[in-house]
Amino acid sequence: MPQTIIVLDFGSQYTQVIARRIREANVFSKVLPFNTPAKQLESLSPSGIILSGGPASVLAKDAPKPDPTLFSMGLPVLGICYGLQLMGNMLGGKAESSERREYGRGELKTLRKGGLFKGLPTKFIVWNSHGDRLSKLPKGFRAVASSENSEFAAIEDPKRRFYGLQFHPEVEHTDGGRELIQNFLLNICGCKSDWRLDDFTQKTILELRDVVGDKRVLLGLSGGVDSSVAAALLHQAIGEKLTCVFVDNGLLRLNERSEVEQLFRDNFPSRLKVVNASTLFLNRLKGISDPERKRKIIGKTFIEVFDNAVKSIGTVEFLAQGTLYPDVIESIPIAGNPAAVIKSHHNVGGLPKKMKLKLIEPLRELFKDEVREVGLGLGLPKDVLYRHPFPGPGLGVRIVGEITRSRLRVLREADSIFQEELFNSRQYYKLWQAFCVFLPVRSVGVMGDERTYENVIAIRAVTSSDAMTADWAKLPDKLLRTVSNRIINEVKGANRVVYDVSSKPPSTIEWE
Ligand code: XMP
Repeated sequence: MPQTIIVLDFGSQYTQVIARRIREANVFSKVLPFNTPAKQLESLSPSGIILSGGPASVLAKDAPKPDPTLFSMGLPVLGICYGLQLMGNMLGGKAESSERREYGRGELKTLRKGGLFKGLPTKFIVWNSHGDRLSKLPKGFRAVASSENSEFAAIEDPKRRFYGLQFHPEVEHTDGGRELIQNFLLNICGCKSDWRLDDFTQKTILELRDVVGDKRVLLGLSGGVDSSVAAALLHQAIGEKLTCVFVDNGLLRLNERSEVEQLFRDNFPSRLKVVNASTLFLNRLKGISDPERKRKIIGKTFIEVFDNAVKSIGTVEFLAQGTLYPDVIESIPIAGNPAAVIKSHHNVGGLPKKMKLKLIEPLRELFKDEVREVGLGLGLPKDVLYRHPFPGPGLGVRIVGEITRSRLRVLREADSIFQEELFNSRQYYKLWQAFCVFLPVRSVGVMGDERTYENVIAIRAVTSSDAMTADWAKLPDKLLRTVSNRIINEVKGANRVVYDVSSKPPSTIEWE
């Protein structure tokens, strides 16, 4: 077990960012629910504990609280924002609601050197987001930094190794935030900064060999980052004992199936079973316009097709999935925690428990960028590792209304032009996602001497770091002009292109 820092999650939208920052300092981190019993925490032998921020008020009757034994485990504790107020309150200090909510940038003045602030300047900009504040320190604590609005912007009890920050060191807008976290990890918790992804890869390969033995493993390959890296890892570990299944659901992008087959041939010459189920999917989707019904039909049909493929393969013991750490972390059901709501809708495409295969999830401890790094180490090409996410229901949620073969053709051709031009103009890798949407709206146009009455293609391009929020991208005019001209001239069935200028929230990234 590597040296581990536990982050207790009180529902902050930044909890995972804290865990990421710790990993970036080459220390292993684990996110657990705020009420994890101290015994369970102890069993993980952590080097320190971080209490995250959260949307609740510590003054509320039902404020989420950790197991109080936590403070007598002899471990260093860092409370961030809500975590600081909570620690202050639970240890005998006093939190009160502030007259002025402190939100956004603020200037921090340090009162003492060393500890968390080792090597940092005496004044720097930090990022705040809190209503309550600490008005009285618990016994043993002292203030180590203040801000305009808060006398106790940073506090410490160095004897017990308890620390608190009223602001968010994990967000980019806090200068020196990485150093603060690093000081906690290395100077206070005594971590060695020796957690390496290469070690993870080697260790996982050995573990997979051990677990799998001479049995066979099945993996659903989509061609996306996660399943491709999982396949590469398994291929290294168990070679021929891995069989991958790729389902063509008829909702793929232009040439997608042959690209996945090529990727497979080039990188992991294990067994690949390609199932062409497009007719089945499209027949079942006939006449269906409601987005949720479409998703359900696609999800259910996928499971059925996959299940049949498994049966045709013979005896298989294990099912591997490219599940990542953010999918594993339980979302905390606290009012105001957006993660709790967003999750349910995206767990489409999961495979049924009734399949009776043992589950292997070799990436379940990793964040997306760590998965990419593992993939690079295993020799996967960059264009696979950095490709945009593509939803499980595919083009099915990018055709508004009923899905038909002719609409799919129009959308595929338009989208392929858009992708090509994004690469040509070097915009692709600057974006989180970029795609076309088919709108079942007809508008009038003129082509040569003739009037046309055809469909509309919407172009969507967004920047984002995690898909929870997203901004529409300001693509260069020249690119938009080229894409629009090409789609209207080259794609039969589309005579108008519009650009989607909506951010998330309140809009979503996909149209359905
Ligand atoms: P929205 O549209 O909710 O999308 O802003 C956020 C991210 O999730 C992807 N997405 C899906 N992925 N099955 C998936 O596997 C789905 O049903 C689904 N719907 C949206 C979307 O592409 C974006 O990256």
